[in-house]
Amino acid sequence: MRLILLGAPGAGKGTQAQFICEKFAIPQISTGDMLRAAVKAGTELGIAAKKIMDAGGLVSDDIIIGLVKDRLTQPDCSKGYLFDGFPRTIPQAQAMKDAGVPIDYVLEIDVPFDAIIDRMGGRRVHPASGRTYHIKYNPPKVEGKDDLTGDPLIQRDDDKEETVRKRLQVYDDQTRPLVEYYSSWAAQANSSDQVKAPVYRKVSGTGSVEDITTSIFAVLM
Ligand code: AP5
Ligand code: ZN
Repeated sequence: MRLILLGAPGAGKGTQAQFICEKFAIPQISTGDMLRAAVKAGTELGIAAKKIMDAGGLVSDDIIIGLVKDRLTQPDCSKGYLFDGFPRTIPQAQAMKDAGVPIDYVLEIDVPFDAIIDRMGGRRVHPASGRTYHIKYNPPKVEGKDDLTGDPLIQRDDDKEETVRKRLQVYDDQTRPLVEYYSSWAAQANSSDQVKAPVYRKVSGTGSVEDITTSIFAVLM
C-alpha cells in the first residue's frame, strides 16, 4: 500500500495516518515530523526550518524532496509507505512522478477552515512519536500525558491562531492545486509516465475520528 494523505493543516492527516499505518504495516512519512525532529536536534536544517515553520511558510522544495528521496531508500519502505503532509506543492509532486515513485491512492481529507481553527487550539502532541491528541475531541487517558509512554504532551509552536491562519492561506495558494493535479492525472496519463495514475478519493474529515477511519478503510479495501 502506497498512499498520500492530502488535506489542510489540522484536517486530521496525522491522526488518521496512525491507524492506516498500523493496519497496513507501513511507515508514516511525515515531512512535518521529520522537520520537527531536525529542529529538536538543532541541526543546520532544523535551525533554518524553525523560522519558516513558526511563520507558517513552506520549507524549500529542494530540501524537502531530498529528505523524502533519502527516506525512501530505507528498508522499511519496501512494503509501502504513507506520505503525510507531502507533497505540498506541484514541484514536489512532479519530482515524485519524475523519480518513478509509485502511488496507489491519494486520499483527500476535507474539513472546513472554521473547524480547523478550533482543532488546532486544542491539539497536544507527543513529540518523540508524533502521536496526536485533542483536549476535547481526542483526549489522552491521563490529562497532559501520552497514552503509551506517560511522557508530557506539548503544544506545537505553529498552533497559534495567527500562524494557523497563515498556514491555511499557504495551503490554499500552494497545496490545493494538488487536488486538480492528482484527480486529473488518470484522464491525462500518457505513455511517457513512469508510474500509473493513483486512485483519487475525497473523504469527509468532519465527524468522529472513528467514523473517518471507517470511511478511509472503506476506500482502501
Ligand atoms: P505538518 O506537520 O505537515 O503540518 P500540517 O500539514 O500543517 O498539518 P497538521 O500536522 O497541522 O495537521 P494534521 O492534518 O496532521 O491534523 P492532526 O491529525 O494533527 O507541517 C508543519 C510545517 O512544516 C509546515 O507549516 C511547513 O512549514 C513545514 N513542512 C512540512 N511538510 C512540508 C513540505 N512537504 N513542504 C514544505 N514545508 C513543509 O489533527 C489536528 C487536531 O485535530 C488534533 O488535535 C487532533 O486530535 C484533532 N482531530 C483530528 N481528527 C479530529 C476529528 N475527527 N474531530 C475532532 N478533532 C479531530
Ligand atoms: Zn500532522
